[in-house]
Amino acid sequence: MIELSVHKENLAQFIADEELLVFQDEIDQCHSKLMNKTGKGNDFLGWVDLPAEIGDELLTRIENDAKAIREKAEVFVVIGIGGSYLGARAVIEALQHPFNPLLEGSKQSNPLIVYAGHSISQTYHAQLLDLLDKKEYALAVISKSGTTTEPAVAFRILKNHIEQKYGREEAKSRIIAITDKSRGALKKLADDEGYKTYVIPDDVGGRFSVLTPVGLLPIAVAGFNIRKLVAGAVEMRKHCLETTLVNENYAAMYAAIRNTLYRQGKQVEILVNYEPALQYVTEWWKQLYGESEGKEGEGIFPAGVGFTTDLHSMGQYIQEGQRMLFETAINVGAPSRSLSIPADQANLDGMNFIAGKSLHEVNQMAALGTTLAHVDGDVPNIGISIPRIDESSLGELLYFFEFACGLSGYLLGVNPFDQPGVEAYKKNMFALLNKPGYEKESEAIRRRLGQSQY
Ligand code: PA5
Repeated sequence: MIELSVHKENLAQFIADEELLVFQDEIDQCHSKLMNKTGKGNDFLGWVDLPAEIGDELLTRIENDAKAIREKAEVFVVIGIGGSYLGARAVIEALQHPFNPLLEGSKQSNPLIVYAGHSISQTYHAQLLDLLDKKEYALAVISKSGTTTEPAVAFRILKNHIEQKYGREEAKSRIIAITDKSRGALKKLADDEGYKTYVIPDDVGGRFSVLTPVGLLPIAVAGFNIRKLVAGAVEMRKHCLETTLVNENYAAMYAAIRNTLYRQGKQVEILVNYEPALQYVTEWWKQLYGESEGKEGEGIFPAGVGFTTDLHSMGQYIQEGQRMLFETAINVGAPSRSLSIPADQANLDGMNFIAGKSLHEVNQMAALGTTLAHVDGDVPNIGISIPRIDESSLGELLYFFEFACGLSGYLLGVNPFDQPGVEAYKKNMFALLNKPGYEKESEAIRRRLGQSQY
């Protein structure tokens, strides 16, 4: 049984129930495309059955490797970009203690998980080396294609560092490569060097890969229960597969609602959370929906806010700016910890009216008050409730968003499983950097920019 639920009560003034039912035929067709692999991008649908198909053998192997890493590393570096790091980061940051580095960080406790190759920032990577100079560490280099510039460059730098720090042989035992089973530069390098490797299945694209070793290994190294995460996804998969009805299947309901709003001119969806721990779930969701839907001049623009923090910044725009927004708010039923507001005799801040209440109750009232205010301001609100932030809830949430994304992309009429648009910046960057094979592009881009600039 799933514990996640989707709520439409704050949509009543924007969408009549009958309007959603109009989508039923389209949803049926999109569902069938996902299940029977008859839609666009159908060779990238491995994620649909992934949770049910992960074998005990793979989970045990991941757990054993994670245990070995945890025994010798204070820091674990995850090198990857886009789908090759966001899923792991979403789950780890949702579950870990935010002050982990100061509370823990010794060999006996959870390693600190840090990220590299998710940008090309020189300062960031140099600062990371400052840390790695001082700490015992291991790393995973994750790239399905094995040719992505950002992680490849970061791995060059870290490979040098780890080999100098530990010597070549010991370094090999501290490096794990997660990549395609047979293609790509990383696969060849891993084979040549004899690194331990994990395979990213051919039919699972980066942003749908959190339940492969791409996500599971770093999550296990961070000390979290990957079996419960997978079990949550298994439950949600059952839910998504057992009916196509928009009033019963939450993924179908969410896909139908967001497409109804899109067709009404609401072009921006803001994922809202009231728990800072969910910040990277939002980043993962942004990538999932942005790369899957934003193409051919179509797509809902996925944005994210953390409330109440952003009520003191983006709240103004959401309440009164252009009316092309809708919100999807993640509500967490129970906090992981208890904390109440103390009474104060002087009451100079005037807060005694909430003394004795839990902070969570105040947060819940802030959420309700915000939702009502935004609905009054013409911002429809979809509610997603999860009972708590733990592995199984996150497993449900991630699979829910993936399945809904597949349906929603097909409703939009695009191929949700490709990302042709990400090549444009790469072409220009390679031309500017004089990559062999890009001579014509180099000449053209220099002509365009004028000699003075480069
Ligand atoms: O979802 C995707 O496919 C992308 O975001 C990729 O994950 C990202 O570009 C990284 O690619 P790779 O794993 O090949 O290095």
